[in-house]
Amino acid sequence: MSSSPAALDGFLNPIESRLSCYGLTNSSPIPDSKIRSIVEFAIKNAPSAFNVQSARAVILLKADHEKLWDIADKHLKAAMPEPAYQALAPRVKMFRAAYGSVLWFEDQDALDALKEKNPAIQASVAEWSHHSSGMHQFIAWTAFELEGLGCNLQHYNFMPQFSAEVASEWKLPESWKLLSQLVFGTPTDGLKRSRERTYLPVEDRVKVFGEK
Ligand SMILES: Cc1cc2nc3c(=O)[nH]c(=O)nc-3n(C[C@H](O)[C@H](O)[C@H](O)COP(=O)(O)O)c2cc1C
Repeated sequence: MSSSPAALDGFLNPIESRLSCYGLTNSSPIPDSKIRSIVEFAIKNAPSAFNVQSARAVILLKADHEKLWDIADKHLKAAMPEPAYQALAPRVKMFRAAYGSVLWFEDQDALDALKEKNPAIQASVAEWSHHSSGMHQFIAWTAFELEGLGCNLQHYNFMPQFSAEVASEWKLPESWKLLSQLVFGTPTDGLKRSRERTYLPVEDRVKVFGEK
């Protein structure tokens, strides 16, 4: 039995309206407990290959969030030529001005155990782990936005020293591999779409065979 059109719209509309939002303040329209429960919901309900449930998340709020972006700034300064650092530093400042970040990890111990149990799929496990992490991130991003939080997705883990300092600062297990940082806060523009999303022609991107 198919769901009602209203139920489907209730699912699809927030997906359509989600956007990357960069102008964020250090406040939240929802309590921290709600932020936590949304992330827990994503961790519990997003699918994973063979139900391995290797996703891990760390929520950093307020001063801890600011510390994260101070760490990013420090490592960016050390890793980049000065002109590149000067170009990126204002972005880091902008992320720091937000309310919080969710750090998304994949537990390599859980993935290694899956590989050991199923040697035939060894070569695919890393790729599937990234697929699954993206699903988790998307659920939280879209749900946050429904609750009035703007979000943008960052990947400062391209610097291994950044990931290492994050792990040591928050005493995280060694097996947790950092994949992304979802920055969130109250949008300075009230979540209005400040730019139009551009779409490539869908008919060039989807093929259907056997449609009635
Ligand atoms: C896998 C992935 C990686 C991304 N990495 C970054 C990033 O490092 N920095 C950033 O500002 N946005 C990043 N984005 C956001 C995209 O640039 C953005 O989603 C895209 O331009 C469409 O805009 P929209 O989010 O407003 O729909 C990423 C998005 C995805 C799905």
